[in-house]
Amino acid sequence: SIPVLDFGSQTAQLIVRRVRELGVYSELLPHDVSEEQVRALNPLGVILSGGPASVYEPDAPQMPAWLPNSGLPVLGICYGMQLISYALGGVVLSPEDREFGPADVALTGEHPLFANTPLNQMVWMSHGDRIDALPPGFRTLASNPSTPFAAMGDDERRWYGVQFHPEVVHTVHGKPILANFLHTICGADSSWQPANFVADAVERVREKVGEEGRVICALSGGVDSAVAALIIHRAIGERLTCVFVDNGLLRLGEAEQVIATFREHFHIPLIAVDARDEFLSALENVADPEQKRKIIGEKFIRIFEREARALNGAQFLAQGTLYPDVIESSAPDRKKGVTIKTHHNVGGLPADMQMQLVEPLRYMFKDEVRAAGLELGLPEEWVWRHPFPGPGLAVRIIGPVSWPRLETLRRADAIFLEELRAAGFYRATQQAFAVLLPVQSVGVMGDGRTYADTIAIRAITTEDYMTADWARLPYDLLARVSSRIVNEISGVNRVVYDISSKPPATIEWE
Ligand code: XMP
Repeated sequence: SIPVLDFGSQTAQLIVRRVRELGVYSELLPHDVSEEQVRALNPLGVILSGGPASVYEPDAPQMPAWLPNSGLPVLGICYGMQLISYALGGVVLSPEDREFGPADVALTGEHPLFANTPLNQMVWMSHGDRIDALPPGFRTLASNPSTPFAAMGDDERRWYGVQFHPEVVHTVHGKPILANFLHTICGADSSWQPANFVADAVERVREKVGEEGRVICALSGGVDSAVAALIIHRAIGERLTCVFVDNGLLRLGEAEQVIATFREHFHIPLIAVDARDEFLSALENVADPEQKRKIIGEKFIRIFEREARALNGAQFLAQGTLYPDVIESSAPDRKKGVTIKTHHNVGGLPADMQMQLVEPLRYMFKDEVRAAGLELGLPEEWVWRHPFPGPGLAVRIIGPVSWPRLETLRRADAIFLEELRAAGFYRATQQAFAVLLPVQSVGVMGDGRTYADTIAIRAITTEDYMTADWARLPYDLLARVSSRIVNEISGVNRVVYDISSKPPATIEWE
């Protein structure tokens, strides 16, 4: 593996992802991690991330004291490079102005770190401090007028530093530079591939659950819980039981698909609970979105507990925690402060269930979960499914939820997604859905006046769901969706397209 030490950069997680994309296992570790913890990962080298500090500040995070004598190759990125320089006897400077954005750098010659990249290349800079004098043993590998030491290296030690960020896409040749460090300098192979990381996750589940343990796993219809279930099933077979709660708030055909795929296709024991009436009566006349979330969350937990108890003997509960969640919860200062919406999902189960957690996706990023899904035979359509909120269509019906309104929304949503897929735009957007508004408006149909519901459709593009833009869908596609919705669904006479970005809007309407 090639661990990344975290000095607080926004892009530290991205470095780990890039390393894994290049087929090398990596984890993000705190900058003050012990040598034993790093050695436990069988490291072939270490990457030091960037960070907001300045090396001379009193509380600035420092390079671990054991690293210089570890014999491991090191790549320092931005602050990581400044740390190397500072720790090994170079000079770091805090100039008046920061350098931020694209920059051209020139290589001083050919070097293995820059193999397969041109002598002049565009990189992405984002730093205040920079190196003013190299530490002994280092030489300049790249420079430009404002950053004379844009890259440095000591081939004897196999320590390197880059002032720019090879992990971001704006650094045009960032990927080959990282690949050169991993493969040529550290000698890592590319064995972190779906077949291997599935096998790895299966092994960890076996170790955790043992020869006798039984596991219960809630399926939501989303990709995470499905992949978690498939990994556990591969590890312990019939000692896994899945529970699927149909809350009536799912998309058209979703419940049937979950049941058929798991029972008939994968032959995994599945308890399907029809709780549609229970949810619907609890939601009657409730208009407030936070109230809806609360009711749905609590109801889900109660039903799940009931089923889990009936199964008596399951000591383990599966949870679809992903690696970014693990990173976030181990570094709370990285978290955003305000709650805009409380999120409910199947991961949010009560702590007092007296079961131990099994988290088969704990070391995976979302793209790795998808790759694992394909590896495990999950249908492609499922693997690439857009995220769907835990409270489902309840937060897409503005105002009180009722069965007729759910049916209207389900059909509108299905039409939109069907047309989006047919036009080849499903994979090009990260989320797309319909919303049923509490607005009625006047229309004309045949010779008659109508006064009927409005459907809003929304499609967004995003990298991380924290910010998003509305998708520029072709007018013809929007026209087809609109005309099918008003023609095929009685009670709807108007369709609007949501052209708000996030921020200031959110992705969902509630
Ligand atoms: P917003 O609307 O906050 O959504 O921009 C960001 C992402 O989170 C999803 N979302 C939820 N997911 N339970 C969930 O599991 C929820 O209550 C919930 N609310 C929003 C939303 O669909 C989008 O992908």
